[in-house]
Amino acid sequence: MTWPNVLLVTSGLLGVGSALKDGIGLKPHMGWSSWNVAQCNAASAKYALDTANKFVSMGLKDLGYEYVNIDDCWTTKNRDSQGKLVPDPSKWPNGIKPVVDQIHSMGLKFGLYGCAGAQTCAGYPGSEGREKSDVAQLTSWGVDFWKYDNCYTPCRQNPRPQTCGNPTGNSSQWYAPMRDAVIGYNTQQTSVAKKMHFNLCNWGRDNVWTWGAGYGHSWRMSVDNWGDWASVERIGSSAADIYQFSAPGGFNDLDMLYLGSSKINANQEKLHFALWAIAKSPLVLGLDLNKISASTLAIIKNKGLIDINQDALGKPASIFRPPGAAAPVKGKIYPYWAGPLVDGVVIGLAAGTAAGRFGVDFKDVPGLQGGRSYVWKEMYTGQTGNGTSVSFDIGLHDMRVVKVTV
Ligand code: GAL
Repeated sequence: MTWPNVLLVTSGLLGVGSALKDGIGLKPHMGWSSWNVAQCNAASAKYALDTANKFVSMGLKDLGYEYVNIDDCWTTKNRDSQGKLVPDPSKWPNGIKPVVDQIHSMGLKFGLYGCAGAQTCAGYPGSEGREKSDVAQLTSWGVDFWKYDNCYTPCRQNPRPQTCGNPTGNSSQWYAPMRDAVIGYNTQQTSVAKKMHFNLCNWGRDNVWTWGAGYGHSWRMSVDNWGDWASVERIGSSAADIYQFSAPGGFNDLDMLYLGSSKINANQEKLHFALWAIAKSPLVLGLDLNKISASTLAIIKNKGLIDINQDALGKPASIFRPPGAAAPVKGKIYPYWAGPLVDGVVIGLAAGTAAGRFGVDFKDVPGLQGGRSYVWKEMYTGQTGNGTSVSFDIGLHDMRVVKVTV
């Protein structure tokens, strides 16, 4: 079966195909973010350094987990008299730079969070009108990653609410000045290691996937993952419709991996991680590594799935419909997924709505041919085989991911 013909939609803005081409974000980024761990309370040097140490001691760094990202609430509520951001001294007793230096010395990277509006979502200073100065400040500390949120942005409501229901324009407008500041900085750097990753967090507004590649290296394509199965379903199913917009240099960001949440069970954790991996989402842990269970740790350390996520082609898997299969249902996770890899094809089989036996004939899979047999390996069970088809018994909300070598 051949790959479906994809209509590349451009928005009239910079559009697909105009990735920033500055050498950043060539693969989905991997790391950790403080937000889901303890919201504002986790935006501290203590959490950042503890996580960096855990990346090393738990073997996560060796698997590619690299960015230690601090989310909302790392500053004081006001800027200083020069208009500079002030790291909260109770959370950063020695400031940001020594923490970044230490994290760099461990071979890891460090990220911070800001907002395109007047304030961040939690009410800390936003960067509107101060983009260049804020980038100068961040880069003087050596910050590698900048997540940029969409709260208190231009709105027809007065005063501006935290989340605007009736914006004055397309959110790309308020992402452009920071994009220009970041890219202005990046283009002056001779070493890729010094450049900053720019992550757009506009919650999928204004079809960000159609213009995100011209504005950042990754973009959130939905509202938050709230850590429940409904979020996994909502985000995971919609990734199938926008897979064609991800490519090296710019990826759909399906939001943090909420493994370890008490709201999802063991099968759901496996599907969550596997689907994010094959959809080429950034793999950003939203969990406390001090409290992770052995089973969750085994999932996030699945090297086969990580290798598929980090495949150099950078092409997400999407859904396909084998003969006789029911049509996809909006908002539900479809059972059949496939995508190309440098040296093969990845097939995802997801029991998104019912347990059962799920299988495919390779001739029905995009990228594979009939009339020949293939060597395959499944990433959760380690099962291997050779033949013209593959099938598994899969429990409700669990998933199997098969790499077929071509
Ligand atoms: C939300 C964002 C979350 C988190 C939070 C912090 O808008 O989607 O990922 O950053 O703000 O306040």
